[in-house]
Amino acid sequence: MAPCRFGAWDVSATGVRGLAGVEASWAERRVVRFAVLGDLHYVHREAEGAPVSAREYYALSRDVILPLLRQVRAQAPDFIVHTGDIVEGHLGSEAEAEAEIGAVIELLQEIAPTFFARGNHDASGAAGRVYARLIPRHHGRLLGRAMADGTYCFTFRAGPAEFIVTNTFCAGREAEQRAWLEEALSRPAAPRRFVVGHGPLFPVGRPFFTHLPFCRGAAELIHRYGADAYFCGHTHNQLVTLHEPLQPGEGTPILQCKGSLVGTFDAGRTVSLARARRLVGRGEAIRYFWGLLEDGWPGWFLVTASAEEVVLEGYYWSSPETWTRGVLRWQRPGAVDVLELPQWPGTRAFQPEDLGQVKRAWLRLCGYKVKAEPPKEVLLNGQPIGALPGLGAFAPRPWLSVPEWALGLLRIRNEVLVRNPAGESFCLGGGQLILELRNGERVLSLPDPRLWSTDEGFSDRDHVNLVFCRDEWVGPMVLAFEGEA
Ligand SMILES: [Fe+2]
Repeated sequence: MAPCRFGAWDVSATGVRGLAGVEASWAERRVVRFAVLGDLHYVHREAEGAPVSAREYYALSRDVILPLLRQVRAQAPDFIVHTGDIVEGHLGSEAEAEAEIGAVIELLQEIAPTFFARGNHDASGAAGRVYARLIPRHHGRLLGRAMADGTYCFTFRAGPAEFIVTNTFCAGREAEQRAWLEEALSRPAAPRRFVVGHGPLFPVGRPFFTHLPFCRGAAELIHRYGADAYFCGHTHNQLVTLHEPLQPGEGTPILQCKGSLVGTFDAGRTVSLARARRLVGRGEAIRYFWGLLEDGWPGWFLVTASAEEVVLEGYYWSSPETWTRGVLRWQRPGAVDVLELPQWPGTRAFQPEDLGQVKRAWLRLCGYKVKAEPPKEVLLNGQPIGALPGLGAFAPRPWLSVPEWALGLLRIRNEVLVRNPAGESFCLGGGQLILELRNGERVLSLPDPRLWSTDEGFSDRDHVNLVFCRDEWVGPMVLAFEGEA
């Protein structure tokens, strides 16, 4: 294949430059090998007065994204598929947003031709307006066909594989985009077909965290018409799962591959998702291959596809040079063999004598729309241990530190209640106790699988394990150190 490289990327380009199009250069290929990256949240320079999130993402861009992009380059993929949120999108001026988006396009293009699905951070403010111009023009240049500004859904062909790129965060345009997706899926299929979007079809491990009004219908279509995999991001957890149709036997299982290039090299924050969350869904049968809770090791996929088979490798980085890998292979969509599983940092099994060795403990609770005021008292085994911090986006980060005096309250089986004094609408879940022992080891309780909602208006009403709670006290969440994981 003739290499398709751009030099300096001209972000002021106004349209198709008459390139022959990369599809033609791949037409005779029997095998293609591509990288799938997601959620760069790229911030290209440190700015005075930038929000905390932008400063954190600048540090991640420097310390994680750039070293890992060098690793992507070392694999020499034929092309890159990006699942959205290329930038953090915090900048107020279009000129600045254009410089930032231009910088990240150039970074990726220097590795290989790159195709983008639109993320929610690419969709609003100055970044949204710039993305709407630059990215369709970029795709137009790559593919040698005109693409109007604001075009986010498109297809392309690379040898034996067809890619259907959707726009999952499409509030108000769901029906139109579903019709587009059905039209794309109902065309005669290439030997391999991959669907790409930002939001998960199945927000496993991070409930509600997608755009369900589109994604539910999209999942039904993909079950019906079949695809080799659905690639997405958004939740920042690393996860590969296979989902049977809700009605067994009606359609093809969907292999959902969620990845995130933002993450940390910190083994202490790297927890198997199955160990930290119950893998809740709508009740469909889920086959779990591997996953990591948000904020753990960053990762990306390398996929080798031919008419005969697909091999998917997920690389998860414990440093800029060291990785662990999961490998799947299939001939038919849904009939997936595991060739290799990634090796995560272990958590030691609990022993009853650990309760006498606890140096520190945290309660992890995740939530939506939980305001810090008025205070929401937390009871551990009947005793108040503090109040909830404000919780949003079901992020796993804010842990409530268990006061030293309360360490003696810990039992093998613990109950947690949260007070909702003003009858506010919120959702809580992902409860877990984390113990740090005197020898430095960490022990995790089993996660409570339930999601507690104080409002029936939450969008995912048929989520399995959703519990409506209209009482003053939410819970009790049961966090036990023994039993079935
Ligand atoms: Fe993101």
